[in-house]
Amino acid sequence: MKDIDFTGKVAVVTGAASGMGLMTAQEFARLGAKVVMCDCAEAQLRREVEKLKSIACVGDVREFAHAEAAAKIAASLGGCDILVTCAGGNEARCCKSNVPFYEQPVEVIDWGLDVNLKGAVYFARALMPQMVAKKGGVICCLGSVTGFEGDGVGTMYGTAKSGLFNFVKGLALAGGPHNVRALCVTPGPVLTRAAMSGMPTALGRAAETHELVDVILFMCSENASFITGSNHVVDGGRLCMYRPFVAPKEVAK
Ligand SMILES: NC(=O)c1ccc[n+]([C@@H]2O[C@H](COP(=O)([O-])OP(=O)(O)OC[C@H]3O[C@@H](n4cnc5c(N)ncnc54)[C@H](O)[C@@H]3O)[C@@H](O)[C@H]2O)c1
Repeated sequence: MKDIDFTGKVAVVTGAASGMGLMTAQEFARLGAKVVMCDCAEAQLRREVEKLKSIACVGDVREFAHAEAAAKIAASLGGCDILVTCAGGNEARCCKSNVPFYEQPVEVIDWGLDVNLKGAVYFARALMPQMVAKKGGVICCLGSVTGFEGDGVGTMYGTAKSGLFNFVKGLALAGGPHNVRALCVTPGPVLTRAAMSGMPTALGRAAETHELVDVILFMCSENASFITGSNHVVDGGRLCMYRPFVAPKEVAK
């Protein structure tokens, strides 16, 4: 296996102010890439960008203008080679709306779909032309095991994540002739939040953040040069496990 080295590469990361997006951006910078860090959490993003000497792009992934702004910055650095879409979250948690799907306000439903699915679509649409022009690149979207499992409360979260599994197939077909790869890395519970420690897995624990970021870095490196259109589950065996059905009303209590 080749040593991973991103010297001379331009990487754009969404959701880069915290969690896996932040650690991915930190690792890209450490391994030589010029990094464009995108997030809507401005203060937090600017703090992290300062430490890494990378470039901040503040905005909301639900707006195509934000993706275009990131593309403009990447173009000024020589064109995007790598896009990692980490911005996301379960709408019930992020919008503090812990009710079953059939009671969710439409704004919460829109948030779940737009952040988790359309955000990745917008960024890929804005940045992929630069990869095609450079005759190479990789788009890595963060999925979730919820995309397989479903969720009666944050129903759009799983819906959007499973949409990404198909989205990367389309990108792989469009990008293949231009040596542009696309794939999903799909986590089970990750300790970017302490609450994730309670989610069952076959290994009996949640992942440390680096256990996902190491896979993301591999997928974005030359070592993964034949991987495209695929979904890579990194879940400690969660999807192997039987879980009893929990009705949405019970979850909401
Ligand atoms: N942590 C887990 O257990 C877990 C499990 C499965 C999948 N995932 C997925 O992995 C990805 C990263 O997860 P994490 O736990 O590191 O996330 P996190 O919550 O630590 O970070 C998400 C980042 O996205 C940003 N963000 C949210 N909405 C945005 C918007 N509209 N525009 C721009 N930025 C926005 C937030 O400000 C935050 O910095 C997410 O897509 C998440 O759904 C996480």
